[in-house]
Amino acid sequence: TNGVITIDPGYKNTGSCESAITFLDGEKGVLRYRGYAIEDLAEKASFLEVAYLLIFGELPAESQLEKFYTDIKAESIVDEEMKKILDGFPKSAHPMGVLSSLTSALIAFNPSAVNVDSEEDMYRAIVKLLAKFPVLVAWTLRKKNGQPLDYGDSSLSYVENILKMMFKKPQEEYKVSKVVTEALNKLLILHADHEQNCSTSTVRIVGSSHAGLFASISAGISALWGPLHGGANQAVIEMLEGIKEDGGDTKKYMAKAKDKEDPFRLMGFGHRVYKNFDPRAKIIKKSADEVLGDLGIQDPVLDIAKGLEKEALEDDYFVKRKLYPNVDFYSGIIYRALGIPTEMFTVMFALGRLPGWIAQWREMRLRKEPIGRPRQIYIGENLREFKDISNR
Ligand code: SDX
Repeated sequence: TNGVITIDPGYKNTGSCESAITFLDGEKGVLRYRGYAIEDLAEKASFLEVAYLLIFGELPAESQLEKFYTDIKAESIVDEEMKKILDGFPKSAHPMGVLSSLTSALIAFNPSAVNVDSEEDMYRAIVKLLAKFPVLVAWTLRKKNGQPLDYGDSSLSYVENILKMMFKKPQEEYKVSKVVTEALNKLLILHADHEQNCSTSTVRIVGSSHAGLFASISAGISALWGPLHGGANQAVIEMLEGIKEDGGDTKKYMAKAKDKEDPFRLMGFGHRVYKNFDPRAKIIKKSADEVLGDLGIQDPVLDIAKGLEKEALEDDYFVKRKLYPNVDFYSGIIYRALGIPTEMFTVMFALGRLPGWIAQWREMRLRKEPIGRPRQIYIGENLREFKDISNR
């Protein structure tokens, strides 16, 4: 503080806006979308219903949901020229970098979605993005797998269609699996919004300059990529695999996580807001047992994860710092059981978070929030005389 300005690194105690979308209680481990408990939505709603709820504020009636999906299906073609951009990437490119670039490239093929001021124009841009984003996600995966790119099947539900675009093998009928569809539906709902987290704050601040919805979401994808944020779901599986390779020695990793000299963190643990169990982690942990059971998959990494959780919950260092498993700790185990490669885990997080980012961007624009422009406390040099290069 310099009397006028107070610096709050990481905005740990700073509110950036008023919002009616998502409510969190970090002490009690409560999460609600537009007032509905996450436990109810994860069990009883479809991902598209939740997307509608987050964006427009109410659970849709049958007719409203039908019209929403009809409008989305009408926009589900991505300009063939976009495939040239995808082809420009090396196979080794990380899917989050590909997805953020393709999302930004959508602007060039949908110029009408940039300067949106009316609710109608915003609706059209929102529907375009909800339609095209899953296609880009599927294309990113298929490019990595060296498979031909495919469009969706409008006879399927939104989530079934995503799975088909991702996994349909050429020359084979795609068989919809109820277990897989329900598992992904639940995961996407659980990731759909989370008030002013790092990537959502990024979407809001980029959107506050009126750069447009697609540019704002592209920026949000980049922020989510970081291993301290959405990238943690990939880092968790890599950590658990490392522990498995190391003979399952969880105690060694617990010690590393507490060693102040070692930058290693127990990935999937801790949260800025939840100082209790992340309610999403509870649901995902239960779902992991169910899905692996239904699919008849034994994954030793799940047992290591449970062992690590048990140890952390009994460890003073973790208990004192209120470090509990967060949303990223078990999600990768389910993604893997669904056949999704590790590098695509954070892309799946982005797919789930898309409606939340959209809802927060729309709320910020409709409330005519000012452009985000914080101040600083200057700690650099005082005024200095310029020195010619011959004197330096
Ligand atoms: C997500 O914000 C959101 O809502 C995000 C998210 C969403 O839905 O959008 O919930 C999704 O990003 C979940 C978080 C995924 N990230 C990880 O799992 C990475 C590992 N976690 C940490 O990096 C950390 O816990 C954060 C980033 C999640 C939170 O960091 P904070 O709030 O800035 O806390 P901190 O770094 O100041 O840590 C406080 C203390 C420190 O110890 P001391 O300096 O007090 O001695 O706890 C320690 C930290 O060293 N600590 C950890 C730890 N997390 C915090 N020690 C070991 N392992 C960890 N994972």
